Amino acid sequence: MKKDSGRLGFFGGFMTATILLGAAVAFAAIGIYTPDPHGDWIRDISVYQPGTDDQINVLADIQPGAAVQMLEAGLRFNVLNQAGKKQNWDLAAHESAEIGAAFGTLEITRPALQASLQTFVGTDLAAVDAAIATQNKSTFKAAMKDLATACNSCHVSFGKPFFVIKSGKSALPLK
Ligand code: HEC
Repeated sequence: MKKDSGRLGFFGGFMTATILLGAAVAFAAIGIYTPDPHGDWIRDISVYQPGTDDQINVLADIQPGAAVQMLEAGLRFNVLNQAGKKQNWDLAAHESAEIGAAFGTLEITRPALQASLQTFVGTDLAAVDAAIATQNKSTFKAAMKDLATACNSCHVSFGKPFFVIKSGKSALPLK
């Protein structure tokens, strides 16, 4: 007998119609999801249920991690260094404060880094702030050298020895 694979036949058609009808009923029960670009930014209701703690979880999921915060710290490290060289102490103070702020955020999002970041900000970055306050170029230069050493020793202790901070002309102070 010839096998009829091209057509569904009565039973196949019935099953297909049943499945489609079932999907339509299920979809109607959930409700048609229309994202509101001004507030309701949760697009995928199969993963995140609007109106539940899932929304908080989404916020947590999309926080920038260490790599992103470190890119910011790297850029600011360079601007800080250049500002000190040009004796633009207000700019230098700003960049130092912003590195501290970025690391403050990272302490919350990556608790494993918290203790090391606190030491770094409270000791090494604070030493740069003290150097900025002296408005002395060579004091500042020495403090920046120590700062880079502190950045690098943390990279080593977290298994990332290949991130070597060295101030230079590139956008990121990596060697
Ligand atoms: C608390 C430890 C710690 C301190 C202090 C620290 N880092 Fe990092 N840094 C890390 C870790 C961990 C990574 C790897 C992040 C990842 O890949 O997830 C990293 C990565 C980086 C990267 C590479 C980012 C990339 O993905 O390309 C740069 C640049 C960087 N750090 C700059 C700095 C600078 C500049 C300082 C000092 C001002 C500094 N870091 C201080 C822990 C630290």
